[in-house]
Amino acid sequence: MTTHIPPFSTPEKNRQIVLAKRPEGTPRTSDFERKEVAREAPGPGQLLVRTLYLSADPVQRGWASNPALTPIGAPMRALAIGIVIESHESTIAQGDIVYGFLGWQDYAIVTRVDLLSHIPTPRAPLPAYAGVLGMPGVTAWLALHDIAPPSEGKAILVSTAAGTVGSVVGQIARQAGAHVVGLTGSDDKITRCVSRYGYDAAFNYKTGDLAATLAAARPEGFDIYFDNTGGWILDTAIRAMAKNGRIIQCGTAATSSWNPPPTGLRNEREILMRTLSWTGFVIFDHVARFGDAIDRMTDLLLAGKLVHDEDVENGIDKITNVLEELFAGSNSSKKLIYIGED
Ligand SMILES: NC(=O)c1ccc[n+]([C@@H]2O[C@H](COP(=O)([O-])OP(=O)(O)OC[C@H]3O[C@@H](n4cnc5c(N)ncnc54)[C@H](OP(=O)(O)O)[C@@H]3O)[C@@H](O)[C@H]2O)c1
Repeated sequence: MTTHIPPFSTPEKNRQIVLAKRPEGTPRTSDFERKEVAREAPGPGQLLVRTLYLSADPVQRGWASNPALTPIGAPMRALAIGIVIESHESTIAQGDIVYGFLGWQDYAIVTRVDLLSHIPTPRAPLPAYAGVLGMPGVTAWLALHDIAPPSEGKAILVSTAAGTVGSVVGQIARQAGAHVVGLTGSDDKITRCVSRYGYDAAFNYKTGDLAATLAAARPEGFDIYFDNTGGWILDTAIRAMAKNGRIIQCGTAATSSWNPPPTGLRNEREILMRTLSWTGFVIFDHVARFGDAIDRMTDLLLAGKLVHDEDVENGIDKITNVLEELFAGSNSSKKLIYIGED
C-alpha cells in the first residue's frame, strides 16, 4: 500500500521566501527574497514540520498587504503540506502529514491551532490535500451546501469556474442535478469546464457581451450564483438572477485593491425587486469542520466522482511568481511547489 509520502531530506538550514517589500496589488516575484536561517527546535506543545508542498492561494494577496499578517522580512504567510519531524503535541505523531499555516519555508514550528488538517493516514496523493481536499475544495463544499444547496431543476452560475474552488462547485452542482453554467477567462478553461468538470456550458467573460451571454444561457434567470470574482462580473450577474435567487460571495478576484474602496454600479434595486439573498462565506470560520468534509470528499474522489487537477513543480524559488500567475489567470490548475528535495 502506498503511503503517498514523497522522498524528502532534512537539511540543517531553513530556506525561507520572505516578503521583502509591501506589494502594490498582486504580489510579484520582486516583492520576495530568499534567505537561509538555522533550523529551530520546537518547544512544549509545538511541532517541527518539514514542508513538502508549498501552496499559493488568491487569499495571500490580502495577507501580503497586511503588515500584521506578513511583516516585512518574515516568511510569506502561506498554506502548505508537511510531515511532522518532531512532536511535542500528544495528538500528533512524528511522521504524520499536516496541512496548515506553515509559510513558504523548509521548516515550520507550529502548534495545533496553525493547522487546518491533520492527516495521519493519507488516502489520496498528498497534493490533493492542498487543493480539492484543502482550503479551496473544502470552501466549495461547505459554502455550497450551507448557503444554497443545488438541486434538480435549479440553475447555478459559477465564476472562476475552472479553478480549484470553481471546479468542485461545478461538479457537486452537476451531480445534484442542477443546470451548471461557468464563467472563466480562456477558451482552454471553457473546454476543461465542460469536458472534465461536467458544466452544461461555460463562457469566456473576457470576450463578448456578458449580459447578453447570460440572458441567452438562462432566459429565466439563475437560482444560485457562486461568485468568486465580485466587481463588474457580479454587477452583471445580479441582473441575470431569477426571483428569490441566492448569491454566495466567496471571492473578489476582480478587485485588485480595497483601499480606497471601489465604487461602481448600484444594484440594490435589483436585489430588492428580485428578492435576492446575498451571503458571504469565510472558510477560516469553519476549521472545526475540515475533517468531516475531507472524509466525505475523499470518498467521492476515490469512487471517481470528484476529479481534480494539480500542477506540481520543483524548487522553492518557483513559488515567488505563482500568485502573479493566479491573478493573470495563467494557472492551468492548482499549482504547488514541491520542496522536499532540491
Ligand atoms: N471565502 C473563502 O473562504 C475562500 C476560500 C478559498 C478561495 N476563495 C476565493 O475563491 C476564488 C477562487 O480560488 P481558487 O483557489 O480556486 O483560485 P483559482 O480559481 O484557481 O485561481 C484564481 C482565478 O481567478 C481568476 N481571476 C484572476 N483575476 C481575475 C479578474 N481580475 N477578474 C476575474 N477573474 C479573475 C482567474 O481565473 P480565470 O482564468 O477563469 O479568469 C484565476 O485563475 C478566489 O477569489 C479566492 O479568493 C475564497
